[in-house]
Amino acid sequence: MPEPREITLLGKTVRRPRKPWTETVHALLRHLREQDLPVPEPLGIDDRFEYVTLVAGVAGDEAWPDGVPADGARSMGRLLRAVHDATRAWLPPTEAQWSVPHSPGTIICHGDPKPGNVAWLDGRAAGLFDWDAARPGDPFDDLAYALLWTIPLNAVPRDGQPSATEQARRRERAEALLEGYGWSAPLDIVDAAVRRHELAIDEAEWLGERGHEPHASWVAQEWPTRWRHDLDALRSAGRRAFPA
Ligand SMILES: Nc1ncnc2c1ncn2[C@@H]1O[C@H](COP(=O)(O)OP(=O)(O)O)[C@@H](O)[C@H]1O
Ligand SMILES: [Mg+2]
Repeated sequence: MPEPREITLLGKTVRRPRKPWTETVHALLRHLREQDLPVPEPLGIDDRFEYVTLVAGVAGDEAWPDGVPADGARSMGRLLRAVHDATRAWLPPTEAQWSVPHSPGTIICHGDPKPGNVAWLDGRAAGLFDWDAARPGDPFDDLAYALLWTIPLNAVPRDGQPSATEQARRRERAEALLEGYGWSAPLDIVDAAVRRHELAIDEAEWLGERGHEPHASWVAQEWPTRWRHDLDALRSAGRRAFPA
């Protein structure tokens, strides 16, 4: 899938397109940095771009092509929890703008907490970046999203069913993530992850219809329709590892 959005690494600085919500996100990042959390330091904003520091570590979707090992998932759960907790006391700017419509919520969600947006050091989550999708919300929304991509629930091998060993690894990762986060309430992982994925599709479409990239290109190529079409397959793939 092409991503026309331009993210440029300039040494230890990351240059990303400026959005209407960038100033709010920078205010949030400043608060998190003051709480000693490993998130990018906002360096500035000009007419077209925002500038933040690179978080040290191995990053991006290529970092974990076969899924995060359980210890990594546990550390990611811990990091997500620490970040969530640190947003509880934060008062957003009065003119705060976020990327997507949202309910009030008790915390600020990252909005896109997948292993590819984590910087990894020695297999541990050492930083969280790509804050464009942040918005007030419920911790559960981020947790469900993190589960989906960390397990990962979506990976169905082309040549058939994931092996019993792979299913067990997925359960192990899910348990580790929840344990790291400190989540002990009963949870239907598949239902939570699929619902959150549906919301992500709606949000991508909403952003695309307003001309934001890369979402506008996704909408033009009808990806949201395809993703919705795949929801049933995602649910049944999930149920194989996590029976109801
Ligand atoms: N602050 C950062 N620290 C470390 N790596 C980063 C940072 N920002 C971007 N990157 C790298 O650039 C890639 C793309 O940036 P990202 O902000 O995640 O945008 P998107 O996923 O929306 O394309 C990331 O996957 C990562 O490899
Ligand atoms: Mg990213």
